Amino acid sequence: MASLSNKYFFVFIYIYLLNISIEKDTNTFSNYEIIKQTKIEANFNVDFSQKAIHGLVKTYFTALDDGEVIVLDTRALKINSVIDSDTGEELEFALDDQYELDANGIPLRIYKEYNKGDQIAILIKYDTTKDGSAVQFLDPEQTTGKIYPFMFTQCESILCRELLPTQDTPAVKVTVSVGITVEKPLFAVESGIFQNKIDNGDTVTYFYEQKIPIPSYLIALAAGKIEERVISDRTKVYGEKELVDLASYEFEDTEKFIQLAEAYTIPYVWGEYNLLILPSSFPFGGMENPTLTFVTPSLIAGDKSLADVVAHEISHSWSGNLVTMDSWSDFWLNEGFTMFLQRKIIEKHIDADIAKLDAQFSYNTLAEDIIKFGESKSFSSLKPYLVGRHADDCFSEIPYEKGFNFLYYLESIVNPQSDIDLFRKILKQYFTKFKYQSIKYEDFKQFFIDKLYEELGETKANAILKQIDWVRWIEAPGFPPVKNDFSNKYSTEVENAIEKFYNNNLPSDFKYTFVKWHTLLKQYFLSSIRVTDKELDDTQLNLLSNVLNLKEGYNAEVNFGYFAAVLEHGKTLEDDVKQALILFLGKFGRMKYLRPLYIDFYKRDKETARATFEKYKSSYHPIAQRLIEMDLKNLD
Ligand code: BES
Ligand code: ZN
Repeated sequence: MASLSNKYFFVFIYIYLLNISIEKDTNTFSNYEIIKQTKIEANFNVDFSQKAIHGLVKTYFTALDDGEVIVLDTRALKINSVIDSDTGEELEFALDDQYELDANGIPLRIYKEYNKGDQIAILIKYDTTKDGSAVQFLDPEQTTGKIYPFMFTQCESILCRELLPTQDTPAVKVTVSVGITVEKPLFAVESGIFQNKIDNGDTVTYFYEQKIPIPSYLIALAAGKIEERVISDRTKVYGEKELVDLASYEFEDTEKFIQLAEAYTIPYVWGEYNLLILPSSFPFGGMENPTLTFVTPSLIAGDKSLADVVAHEISHSWSGNLVTMDSWSDFWLNEGFTMFLQRKIIEKHIDADIAKLDAQFSYNTLAEDIIKFGESKSFSSLKPYLVGRHADDCFSEIPYEKGFNFLYYLESIVNPQSDIDLFRKILKQYFTKFKYQSIKYEDFKQFFIDKLYEELGETKANAILKQIDWVRWIEAPGFPPVKNDFSNKYSTEVENAIEKFYNNNLPSDFKYTFVKWHTLLKQYFLSSIRVTDKELDDTQLNLLSNVLNLKEGYNAEVNFGYFAAVLEHGKTLEDDVKQALILFLGKFGRMKYLRPLYIDFYKRDKETARATFEKYKSSYHPIAQRLIEMDLKNLD
């Protein structure tokens, strides 16, 4: 009997340890459970001639236990020296290179003894190298103005380690102050509040401070011939002069979006909310760097119709930047919640039916990604298995849209049981309770359950909880277990047009109807064609290409939807369409467009697709280069 319970005891310990090892962020080498970084003071010297950043970083740590080594994440960095900031002594360090091929980079081991409770500061002198992809240096020709060079960083997901040696995990939050030195007449911006600048003669150093603790992936800087326009009390638009006025108009509603988000959640804590419009190689639509959202110039449509990306990045001010996932396996806590808030903003800014149409249309891309990864593969779950993988490898619509669908579902079963918008109340309390922390999905789940009991009592709470299949929603791969109803007043109109389109009997004035449609209706129209398994005949191709004139570049989302549909189902791929596609592939470095289009182009015309990629490759961001390369390899 005694030995049996002993056996159970060991099994229990084993399972317990297994869980701990699963729950730690597997995309970091750092020993953050033993010694935790609290503050970073960085000096970045931006060297355009060598395309490198010469860095001097002082990092503060608190020891949570006794230890003799500090392990930091790095990749593609040249470490020059490590100094104990208190004694001024050089510390011994090791930078293994047997990990060269590891997706997570190379651990930097710094040998220093410490005891629980110690406060330590370490100074590291290092350089970034051309092998890294966190920093992109653009030659003048690659900018909009074509006269001055430009530099920007992209640290999400695990690229901060290519900008500075750090505990590169969202589980650790630090305050950050930086000085960025650039040659005159360039200007530098950073994801913190501007403090002051010092003129050094030929160069200027700009100082920024982020007093709210942030995870490393939110550290961001940029330098170039950047100008600024004030668009509201807390918002400036930064960018090259050729773009900054266009962007100021396009994103005019930013203040309104922030207020709508505040009205739904809790007050905005970050002080300023600025936007930086980047040159065309920026690989994302937007990136929520605190106080300084980065956006792609492909959002400039002239009619504000793509500004929902800004609503998205604003929403990250709560989900992601304030309450942060604690590892990349819980990425949906950032993106799914943000999609949910984004659509709350859009619901108030435009109307509820547009928000539903957006959700309905995005379900198509979700379905495509689930099928692409495989319905039984962990990457199609909300808890992807990332051991040994780069966190970017599983990037898809799944955390965004499956995550959104889960929250939408929770709202739809909670709210009918209450007289108030109870789901919103719970979300507000969630942001209040977990702000400034990094949390796991399980923390959200427990919190949600506790609140239901507290607000509704046992009977009602149990009735709701027994409907929720947590495992199938979160852990299991494949399609969501429940299909939400997003029916709305716009989709019928589009669906009717689709039916007529396939019957070749659209009215001759359809092009006037189409022109007047909100961009989202156009997107839904084109994505419906893409997901319908029907070949497009000459009449239909002619209608899209020449009557509706969709191959002309007036709105990046519409162009993308058109090329994606035609590549997938066009009976032919006419030369003029191919030429227009090639032009589009050279226009923006945004991966949302490039990755699916290259995949489909490659499937239809391997040689031209490959040649096009080779032609533009060097103009794309290194992240995009790597991922497109990976996509094409998967097709061979
Ligand atoms: N945080 C993401 C961008 C990101 C994700 C960068 C993962 C690196 C790794 C950002 O908030 C985002 O989701 N951008 C979207 C906006 C869209 C969903 C409205 C984009 O870039 O398209
Ligand atoms: Zn996002």
